[in-house]
Amino acid sequence: MVQPISVFKGLEGVYVTESALSLIDSENGVLYYAGYDVKELVERSSFEEVVFLMLHQRLPTSSEFTEFLKLLRRSQELEPIHIETIRKYAGVTDILSLLAMLIVLEGRGKIGGNSNDFNAAVNAVAKMGSFFSTIIRVRYGGDYIPPRRDLSFPENLLYMMNGEVPSREHADVLDDLLILHAEHGIPASTFASLVAASTLSDLYSSIAAGILALKGPLHGGASEASYAQALSIGSVEKVPEWVQLTLSEKKKIMGFGHRVYKIYDPRATIVKNIIARFMGSMNSEVKKVYEITRALEEYGEKYLASRGIYPNVDLWTPILYRMIGLPADSFTALFAVSRTAGWVAHILEYWRENKLIRPLHLYVGERPRKYIPLELRTGS
Ligand code: SDX
Repeated sequence: MVQPISVFKGLEGVYVTESALSLIDSENGVLYYAGYDVKELVERSSFEEVVFLMLHQRLPTSSEFTEFLKLLRRSQELEPIHIETIRKYAGVTDILSLLAMLIVLEGRGKIGGNSNDFNAAVNAVAKMGSFFSTIIRVRYGGDYIPPRRDLSFPENLLYMMNGEVPSREHADVLDDLLILHAEHGIPASTFASLVAASTLSDLYSSIAAGILALKGPLHGGASEASYAQALSIGSVEKVPEWVQLTLSEKKKIMGFGHRVYKIYDPRATIVKNIIARFMGSMNSEVKKVYEITRALEEYGEKYLASRGIYPNVDLWTPILYRMIGLPADSFTALFAVSRTAGWVAHILEYWRENKLIRPLHLYVGERPRKYIPLELRTGS
């Protein structure tokens, strides 16, 4: 008796690998990185320490962390090939595409498969941060500023972008955002990077695959889309009508819904609480987006909560990004910088017992079909 074949469109509910890197407890709305509640990591750790945690699945000792920071900060320096590429393309393409170009350059001549290539993993995270900042700086008329060894990763990211050491407040907000976006199991972008890595393509090319999957508005692109959405709605008064029209046209509200969370995304709650601390420092545009987002949250939940569709991390983060001065077309790129930590950690973890990822498809076309020569084919 032939077994019926099940097709899992979008791999919904399908486990494709084992991993010790994170757990999304969607029942209770808790995200764990290697067993640590991300809420506690935001309050007590740093993105630099979270990168170590992702690569080693444990927190570093003091001496280990000192050595790790030396490698991470040394790796933030860019080479002439990077700087020339940024100067040439920063004004003619979007930030994310140029990030992908640069990380592919980093992988020139390399092959994959080394599950202990921690130096390359650290280098990838470091370079992505410096690429991000230098691309933005050049797009706004500036030029490469070398990183400073005495600054943390978030401090250098803002220093290399703006040419001045950021305030403690801005550096801390960016550190929290980097921690919150570092890892999230096997979303489309991480899966894309694992598919590339499973062929033993190099680490950097596999990251590029993740970057390009992250770009879409159903995934990382939603952060920029949700900010643009709020600006296009234009006022709090227009939110009810806009929500009803959007849903009646079967369109998606950006920043709402999640394949795994069927409750409020715990990261969004953490971001909302951080925003509450800085209400006083919002400019008029950000304040308007904040008010519209609050109305969207209230009104969107009215129609969607009963279906398990709640705000996700991308609804609120744009407000914090703008508050620390990031351009409105840089949010997905910053997401990519942070998620490079998760991507490289998953790739090294997967390479420990590598298996080429090659799913099947259920053929639903006609067969067999007889070939008819062109001259005998009549009709349309
Ligand atoms: C991220 O996976 C991760 O971990 C991703 C991420 C990470 O950290 O890596 O968390 C980051 O990508 C967060 C998600 C950002 N994307 C958005 O905000 C875009 C808007 N959201 C939707 O496109 C959607 O919710 C998804 C893509 C996030 C999840 O979609 P699913 O699981 O594929 O579900 P679906 O699209 O099949 O929707 C099921 C139903 C549909 O209605 P019906 O056809 O059954 O009538 O729910 C509706 C959808 O129309 N629905 C929405 C909606 N999301 C789902 N309706 C209106 N607005 C929405 N946002």
